[in-house]
Amino acid sequence: MVLNTAIQLACPLDGSPLHAHKRSFSCANGHRFDIARQGYLNLLPVQQKRSKSPGDSTEMIAARQRFLAAGFYDPIADQLIEILNNHGQLNSKMCLLDAGCGEGFYFECLSKALLKKAIQPGLVGLDISKPAIIAAARRNKAITWLVASNKQPPLMPASVDVIVCMFGFPVFDAFKNILKEDGKVLLVEARPTHLIELRKVIYTEIKQTNFPEISTAEQQGFALLAQGIASYKTATLETQQIADLLLMTPHMFRASLAGKQRAAALKQIELTVDVSLRLLQLNG
Ligand SMILES: C[S@@+](CC[C@H](N)C(=O)[O-])C[C@H]1O[C@@H](n2cnc3c(N)ncnc32)[C@H](O)[C@@H]1O
Ligand SMILES: [Zn+2]
Repeated sequence: MVLNTAIQLACPLDGSPLHAHKRSFSCANGHRFDIARQGYLNLLPVQQKRSKSPGDSTEMIAARQRFLAAGFYDPIADQLIEILNNHGQLNSKMCLLDAGCGEGFYFECLSKALLKKAIQPGLVGLDISKPAIIAAARRNKAITWLVASNKQPPLMPASVDVIVCMFGFPVFDAFKNILKEDGKVLLVEARPTHLIELRKVIYTEIKQTNFPEISTAEQQGFALLAQGIASYKTATLETQQIADLLLMTPHMFRASLAGKQRAAALKQIELTVDVSLRLLQLNG
């Protein structure tokens, strides 16, 4: 596991700095965390676990990996890179965190795009799901992958430049704590017509999805700096890809059995992707 010097890890038990050794990290108070053989670090203490295996399951992660590898969400990755390039003033001294990174698709895309411009910031991806981080660690060895929680990201206060939170669970007070003074959060969220064709199949009544307010973020001192939208029609999804998409979204939990059966019977579908990317700045 390579640790870019821009990344300052913190002990999840007492918040003090973590120091790198050959196969482990430790803090001055004697807490030691071994680097897993797959090349990630587990910084999620049992006290922070709500269940034995929190977060997305192995099956959900594999489904997301297949779906994203097929390119259906590539334009979202492109927009992410564009908005960070245009407004993030990225350079190699920075530390960027993907909070709730799943199997690491988006930071892998970002890392490749930045490498072409000879920019190599410290990139950290964290997720509460161990299977997600194992998949991410297999994908890219230049990114630091952590099993950890957004509620207590194990990074030193005021050490992170940008936090990306995609289809996830932002925790603004925790984010604020680890961000530098003018740090940024990029929120990527579904807009009302996102995947509408599939939702019409699985639900008898379409609930108007409320687009999340940023008032909680504003209360913590964040302000909207820039906004992008990724809105397009996908290529045709076949039966397996529809099943994968269902597994990686909350619809799998929300839909009735009949709804899921209607989706499973679909041979093909083209979908609307409608996603917003909001860049917030602290003390902006
Ligand atoms: C909908 S997925 C999105 C994954 C990824 N950002 C993407 O867009 O492909 C949400 C992710 O958040 C993770 N997660 C859930 N609760 C979390 C927490 N408290 N801290 C960090 N990650 C969490 C899940 O394990 C899952 O991988
Ligand atoms: Zn410690």
